[in-house]
Amino acid sequence: MFSQLQPVATDPILGLMAAYQQDPNPNKIDLGVGVYKDEQGHTAVLKCVKKAEALRLAKEDSKTYIGMAGDMNFNQHIEKLAFGNDHPALLAGRLTTAHTPGGTGALRVAAEFIKRANPAATIWVTTPTWANHISLFQAAGLQVKEYSYYDYSSKELLEEQMFAELAHVQPGDVVLVHACCHNPSGLDLTFAQWQRFTALAKERGFTPLVDMAYQGFGVGLDEDAAGLRHLAAAVPELILCSSCSKNFGLYRERIGACTLLAEHSKAAETARSVLLSVVRSIYSMPPAHGAIIVGAILDSSELTGLWHQELAEMRNRINDYRQLIVDKFKAEGIAQDFGFITRQHGMFSFLGINKAQIDRLRDEFSIYMVGSSRVSIAGLNHSNIDYFAKSVATVLK
Ligand code: LMR
Repeated sequence: MFSQLQPVATDPILGLMAAYQQDPNPNKIDLGVGVYKDEQGHTAVLKCVKKAEALRLAKEDSKTYIGMAGDMNFNQHIEKLAFGNDHPALLAGRLTTAHTPGGTGALRVAAEFIKRANPAATIWVTTPTWANHISLFQAAGLQVKEYSYYDYSSKELLEEQMFAELAHVQPGDVVLVHACCHNPSGLDLTFAQWQRFTALAKERGFTPLVDMAYQGFGVGLDEDAAGLRHLAAAVPELILCSSCSKNFGLYRERIGACTLLAEHSKAAETARSVLLSVVRSIYSMPPAHGAIIVGAILDSSELTGLWHQELAEMRNRINDYRQLIVDKFKAEGIAQDFGFITRQHGMFSFLGINKAQIDRLRDEFSIYMVGSSRVSIAGLNHSNIDYFAKSVATVLK
């Protein structure tokens, strides 16, 4: 049976990680995968996580199963974090959450849930979108279509095109929208564009699926969720897939959540039963560790304060480097305008350079970025930014 298989190309993002690790060049720079790194180029465990883990070690007295929806304390916290403590949908009991193995797990659960609710649904994703979105939804048997989003020449939103295309989406279809820190472009919707999106969702009757993998990495925890909160106050149904990989630095613990917003609390109960049956048929129950750590942080005002501080440090460092890239490029005599990088948010931006230049940066200078020219800005630090700017200037000549 195995002899029938054809080899599959390595994932464009995770493949880069392996190539980088094998590169012996001491000057190599990893701008590939979306993982936060500090000034030392290290992805450290957050202090608030270390403290919560110590608490857990002392307190944990059982390894019994936690149930299909996962950790209830985490689920309550994550709903409040995403929607805010007083959101009408939360107060009306219209939300229901299952904690999942990472944001990817949340998306897969959402995809299977959509298939149960409407097997004929098409899911619409932005052009471009996260490299894994399309294959993930297709693997679940959904039809995927794309809508215009990023204008590679102006570096702005293709707003009129986007809304014209979404005006043809059928009721019962699903439209994926990135809550903040759009992956891969860093270009987010303004609040006015969220309002326009909300009005269209109501008018057309499609279901929004909000992917929120970077809450707190853009402008702030509340600011990054403002579009989601506005949308959720207006539409009857919505799916939210969130992740604690980046904002809690819990990447390998695989902790995320799939939250459903239903029309009323009774409908939320029914939706929950389907959600849990989806979970049972895929992985039965999620792993507990990450959820318990996040829950312990959010249970404690001291640890929450520390987390806010550490999250702000990560966000500010990335934003400082957004400006530094532009300044260093100028200092290297690059004439092209890279000012758009400072107007974008989160881990990523496209440099907007061509394939030959990307290949040259990797082969001659050991600088690794995704083939779309997406760079993960957190890979830069004071020891490598000059080398990076010089190398880019060389390939742009
Ligand atoms: C990324 O886009 O680099 C991250 O979301 C990591 C991943 O799994 O692709």
